[in-house]
Amino acid sequence: MSEFNVAIVGTGGIYRLAHGPAWRRVPRARVIATCDIVAERAEAAFTRVEDLLERDGIDLVDICTPSDPHAPLTTLALAAGKHVICEKPMALTPTDGLRMIQAAREAKRHLYIGHTRRFDTRWAQMKAEIAAGRIGEPVAVRRTERCWGAFPRGDWHWERARSGGVMVDLGIHVADLFAWFFDAEPTEVYAKALAVREEARETGCFDFGLIQLGFPGGRWGSMEVSWAHPKEYAPFYSTTEVIGTRGKLALSDRHASPMTVITAGAIGVPQYSPLLSSFPETFVDELGHFLDCIAGTASPRSTPAQALTAVRAIAAAFESAASGQPVSLDGGAPC
Ligand SMILES: NC(=O)c1ccc[n+]([C@@H]2O[C@H](COP(=O)([O-])OP(=O)(O)OC[C@H]3O[C@@H](n4cnc5c(N)ncnc54)[C@H](O)[C@@H]3O)[C@@H](O)[C@H]2O)c1
Repeated sequence: MSEFNVAIVGTGGIYRLAHGPAWRRVPRARVIATCDIVAERAEAAFTRVEDLLERDGIDLVDICTPSDPHAPLTTLALAAGKHVICEKPMALTPTDGLRMIQAAREAKRHLYIGHTRRFDTRWAQMKAEIAAGRIGEPVAVRRTERCWGAFPRGDWHWERARSGGVMVDLGIHVADLFAWFFDAEPTEVYAKALAVREEARETGCFDFGLIQLGFPGGRWGSMEVSWAHPKEYAPFYSTTEVIGTRGKLALSDRHASPMTVITAGAIGVPQYSPLLSSFPETFVDELGHFLDCIAGTASPRSTPAQALTAVRAIAAAFESAASGQPVSLDGGAPC
C-alpha cells in the first residue's frame, strides 16, 4: 500500500494541535473524513463512528478521542477492516488493551499506539546514547512531567473513569519511556497518589503521582507526574536523568527555554520554546513511521505489546497506591 486514506475520530485538542497539522505533512497520506460526537466541532463530517466506517475508501482510522473509548472504537474500526493508530493510553485496563491486540490479530490489520516520547528527538537522542553505551549500563532513571492541568471543571480529564487521572495521562508516557530505556518490562511497582487540586478532590481523580518501577537486575525508574504544579511556574516542565554505570544523561526542558523572566511577585516562566521543541516534528515522524510499518518498509519503534506493558504498569500503580504495598508484575501478559 503506497497511498493512505485516513479518517479521524475525535477532532478536539490533540487533533487540532498535532495530528491534523502533522497529517498534512506526512507524504502519501490524505485525511478524507472526520468524526466527532460534537457536530459543530471543526471539520467533523460524521457524528457516529459507525457511519464513518461505512464510507468507502478508508484505509486507516486515527483515534484522537478521550481515553475511555479508545478500546471500543479501536475494535470497531479493526472489525471494519481498517488499520488503526490510537492515541495513548492504549486503554484504561490491561484487559481492554489485550482485547485490542487480539482484535488486530483477528482482523489481520495493523494497530499502533501513539507513544509520542519514542518519536521525540530529545528522548530518541537519549535512547541512542544509552544504546551506544555512552554511560555504561543504565541502572536508574528519574523523570518528572509536571504541569498545571488546564482542563476546565467538568472536563473528562477530571473523571477518573474516563482519563485515569494524571497517573494514566502522563504516567503512561513515562512507564513506556522507562521500559524503552531499559529495554525490559517492569517487574515491581510501588506508588503514592494524591488528589491535590480542588477539581481533583471533587471527583476523586488523582492529579499527583509518585510511581516507582523496578526492572530486572535491580534497575529502577522513578517518576513524578503532576497536573498540580503551580501554574505560574511553567506550562509544562519535565526533567529526565539516566544514571549509568559509567556516566549520566540529564535533560531538562528548562534547557529548551532561551529566557527566564523575573518580575515583582513572580518567577517568570521558562517558556517551552516552539523553536527548540521538536513537538510538531514528533507527530509527523510518528504517523509517517506507522504508515511505513503498514507498508512493510519499517519495523515498529513502538508496538501494541509495549503499549500494553505500560498499561499494566500503571494499573499496578493504582493497586499499590490503594494498598500501600508494592505490587509484583509477572513479567508480561500473554499476547
Ligand atoms: N501523545 C500526546 O502527547 C498526547 C497529548 C495530548 C493528548 N493525548 C491523547 O489524545 C486523546 C485526546 O485528547 P484531547 O486533549 O484531544 O481531548 P479533547 O477533549 O480536546 O478532544 C477529544 C475529542 O473527541 C471527541 N469525542 C469524544 N468521544 C467521541 C466518540 N466516541 N467518537 C467521536 N468523537 C468523540 C470530543 O467531542 C472531542 O472533540 C487522549 O486520549 C489523550 O490522552 C496525547
